[in-house]
Amino acid sequence: ATQRTFYDEVGGAETFDKLTAKFYEEVAADEVLRPLYPEEDLGPAERRLRMFLEQYWGGPRTYSDERGHPRLRMRHHPFRIGPIERDAWLRCMHIAIASIDSDTLDDPHRRVLVDYMEMAANSMMNSPV
Ligand code: HEM
Repeated sequence: ATQRTFYDEVGGAETFDKLTAKFYEEVAADEVLRPLYPEEDLGPAERRLRMFLEQYWGGPRTYSDERGHPRLRMRHHPFRIGPIERDAWLRCMHIAIASIDSDTLDDPHRRVLVDYMEMAANSMMNSPV
């Protein structure tokens, strides 16, 4: 039998689509984060984050099919990420998570997701300032 994953439990593709759409809506308006993104169009970056998160939580493995091993710290090397950038990223992510209703994302799952994002954002820092 196939295991039901966290991805399935929180509503699958639809939820990750909503989450990353809301996240990038916030990024687009954020004066710290927006200038870091090299491309005019945030659509491709949104898609990469969505594919990564889907794969991480047990959904389709499209991210690695297209991008190979995530190696996220290495891929973030070109961007200076200090506490200010980390806080800005988390602010956007907290808003995105808060936009998912509680029928889709119950409190225990919400807690797991928030804890992961905080851990991941901390681990992506590559500058003390
Ligand atoms: C890519 C910024 C944290 C996942 C990027 C890019 C920027 C960026 C500027 C390049 C956009 C692009 O894909 O073209 C930041 C900043 C962070 C942060 C300022 C602050 C802590 C995170 C975290 C995750 C993440 C915590 C995962 C949970 C990704 C992914 C990509 C990406 C999957 C695309 C990698 C690829 O396949 O090329 N990020 N990021 N980022 N970021 Fe972040």
